[in-house]
Order: sequence, then C-alpha cells, then structure tokens
Amino acid sequence: MEVIIASSPRQAGSIGADLVEAQLARNPASAIGLATGSSPQPMYRELIARCAAGRLSFAQTRAFLLDEYVGLPDDHPESYRRFIERELTSQIDLPSSALAGPDGSTRDLDTAGSRYEQLLEEAGGIDLQILGIGRNGHIGFNEPTSSLMSRTRLKMLADTTRRDNARFFGGDLDLVPRHTITQGIATILDARHVVLIATGSAKAEPIRLMVEGPLTAMVPASALQLHPHATIILDEESAADLATAAYHRETYAQKPAGRDSS
Ligand code: F6R
Repeated sequence: MEVIIASSPRQAGSIGADLVEAQLARNPASAIGLATGSSPQPMYRELIARCAAGRLSFAQTRAFLLDEYVGLPDDHPESYRRFIERELTSQIDLPSSALAGPDGSTRDLDTAGSRYEQLLEEAGGIDLQILGIGRNGHIGFNEPTSSLMSRTRLKMLADTTRRDNARFFGGDLDLVPRHTITQGIATILDARHVVLIATGSAKAEPIRLMVEGPLTAMVPASALQLHPHATIILDEESAADLATAAYHRETYAQKPAGRDSS
C-alpha cells in the first residue's frame, strides 16, 4: 500500500488526477471505476479542468460506477448515475453511452449484482478504481462485517452511512434509501489499481484502522492491505492518527520517478 500525504484536499485531488492522467496516457481506452461522495470531488474538478485544457481526453474511456442506490427513480438527482453525470462525466468528453452502473431501479434485485459483474468482466475488468472510505471503514457500500470475498450484490446501508448521506437529501434521513447495489470487496480487489482518497478529520480513525490495523471484516477497507497496487491519498487531517506518517512522507519524498511503492 502506498500512502501519500498531501498538504490539502485540493492537492490530494491533483495527485489523484495525475494518476488518472498517467493511466489514460498508457491506455486511452482504460476502464475507470468511479466513486461518488465528497472525497473525489476535488479530483473530478481537476480532471474537468485538464480535459478542458486539452491535456487529457476520455473520448475512448469507459467508466463504471462503484455503487448505486436501490429504489430511486433513474432521473433522481441523488442517484449515483445522476451525481456522477453532474459532477464529472457531463463536463468531460466521455461519451454518455460509455458510463455504466449497477441497475438500482430494477425489479430483479437478485440478479442485479451478477449482471453488473458480467458487464465488468466483458469490459476486461477495471484498470483504475477510485474509492472513498466511510467513517465506519466501508469501501463501496460494503459495511462492517461484509464478506471480504463478496462480489457485487444488494447491501443494506448502516445507520451511520445513512446519517452521513442525509446531507445530500436536504438533511432528511427518511429520504435516504436503505439499500444499494455495490461492488463487493473481492470485485474491488480485482481492479488492477485502486486509488482511495480520504480528507478531513472524520476519516482519521478509519484511515488508521485501514492502514495500520488488522485485516478484518469490521473494517472493510482493511482488505486493501491485500491489494498489490493500492494508492491511498490523504490530507493532513485524515493522516493525523497514523503512527507511520513520517515513514510515508519520507518514502514519497524519496520515491524514484515513475515507480510506486505499494
Ligand atoms: C461512494 C461510496 C462510498 C463513499 C464513502 C465516503 O460511491 O461508495 O464508499 O466513498 O461513503 O463518502 P464521502 O466521500 O462523501 O465522505
């Protein structure tokens, strides 16, 4: 696991954008996995700016959502498809047909997960998966106690997650869906490179547990310890509880150009 401690959320976003840019330079037809929520937004803004400046293009890229609420109408502004269209894909040159996500409005919830898995497989898998982390250590919506071997499926949201996400629903907890279809932990681990961004003091504890704690289903993000190419981009606040912070700073400062230190 490579841990990078940025000076601000904005710099964290810029470092994340560098990784996406490098991936697209290697392969413009890459499959990129997209997370919603607040954490990746500085990175998305940076990608939009770089695209507008002609520095990178998503014209050949395919994008796949990490998760989707169940039961929201397709055109609901807080569905994850609409969120990502609004915050990113409508502002870059990704063709609208190149964005896919789990089908949260289906009646066939039993097969929604396996159908999405099939789509990911047909795409050749995810090249670079962007992640955030929940206050309770979730990745995607794999809440604590999720199987570390899980694949895309229906999951019920934890109360803490629904409360955290109520801010996107005008603060009304009753409007926050109870269920999602989320990539499983094993699905996320299949991505060839995972890039997790966490900023703010509320993420200090889950980041400490993910980076320095034991591998446990109680902290689903700890499964990233198993990934051979995981990059964790933090700001000062989210890195504040890391006993190994000095090591990570030194490692990054000494990093040979073009190498990573997973
Ligand atoms: C979003 C997702 C979640 C969020 C996490 C952090 O698609 O799967 O795991 O990444 O809840 O959310 P923010 O970034 O809003 O703190």
